Amino acid sequence: MKIEQRLEQLIKLLSDGEFHSGEALGQAMSVSRAAINQYIEKLNELGIDVFSVSGKGYRLATAIELLNAEDILATSQLPESMLNVSSIVGSTNDDLKQLSDIQQLPQGYAILAEAQTQGRGRRGKQWISPFGTNLYISLYWRLEEGLGRAMGLSLAVGLAIARVLREQLDIEHVSVKWPNDVYINNQKVAGILIDIDSLDDGSARCVIGIGINLTLPETAAQSIDQAWTDVNSHLPLPLQRNRFAGRLHQYLVSTLKEYENSGFAQFASLWRQYDKFDNKPVRLLLGERKVDGLCRGVDDTGALLVEVDGGVKRFFGGEISVRSADATSY
Ligand code: BTN
Repeated sequence: MKIEQRLEQLIKLLSDGEFHSGEALGQAMSVSRAAINQYIEKLNELGIDVFSVSGKGYRLATAIELLNAEDILATSQLPESMLNVSSIVGSTNDDLKQLSDIQQLPQGYAILAEAQTQGRGRRGKQWISPFGTNLYISLYWRLEEGLGRAMGLSLAVGLAIARVLREQLDIEHVSVKWPNDVYINNQKVAGILIDIDSLDDGSARCVIGIGINLTLPETAAQSIDQAWTDVNSHLPLPLQRNRFAGRLHQYLVSTLKEYENSGFAQFASLWRQYDKFDNKPVRLLLGERKVDGLCRGVDDTGALLVEVDGGVKRFFGGEISVRSADATSY
């Protein structure tokens, strides 16, 4: 049996959040206690906080609700053929791209994983992806009209996540930051990475990767270099992970359909309601260049509008970073 399968077995046994002795775990998995020790070390490397107490055994810091395709589909009401639930992967975006190279996928097909060992963020950064506590999801969408249609896509997706948090979970102070980050109380809670390429028929293949912090374990959080938060810190009761994944999947699919039919214009006024920087002074970083101005929302294509020296300029392109004008916060 591969080590990944062993680790999955062990996590399942520990997922109840109760203590389990090394001996009992060894027996349940038909391996030695030494092997259990070794697997526990691997779990810690994957960002799973496992406590060990002598005389009692091992326990997860918190119980984990493992991803379950049936439960997710029961909420999303989407066909089974649109969902793929994986355990430990490199990156869901990479897996989805590979899969779409070899088979035709339905619009909105999603891969969800429990953990990513090569989770990718924007601008070449790593996306910290510990096991079982957050959501890592990649959605497939083919834009018939090609790359030109993709400009406001990441904004529409960011808005969809923000709306699920605000309208369905009742979380306050949810905002979006151009082009696609989602914040709660000015701390980042979700990020989006869209890989797009042009297909031979002129259409654009979009792999829409979303990472949402649900409960970020302390050890994993230490390696994040900006203000962050997680959804569960803003809820009275812990979130049901599978239900949330189902709602999100459903909401994303309907948002993407709307986007494909009518473009970004229909979302532009909503963006203003959620915009973290609306009418605030901002500093744009465009490579070596800095532009200071007043944020004036977005236009109907999703371009960022910034008032500079009395005139409003449009900015677009994935490499622009927007910060608060005092440059101390993102
Ligand atoms: C960002 O830097 O804000 C974007 C983060 C995107 C992370 C998600 S997690 C699922 C998908 N797979 C990846 O490797 N990255 C995206």
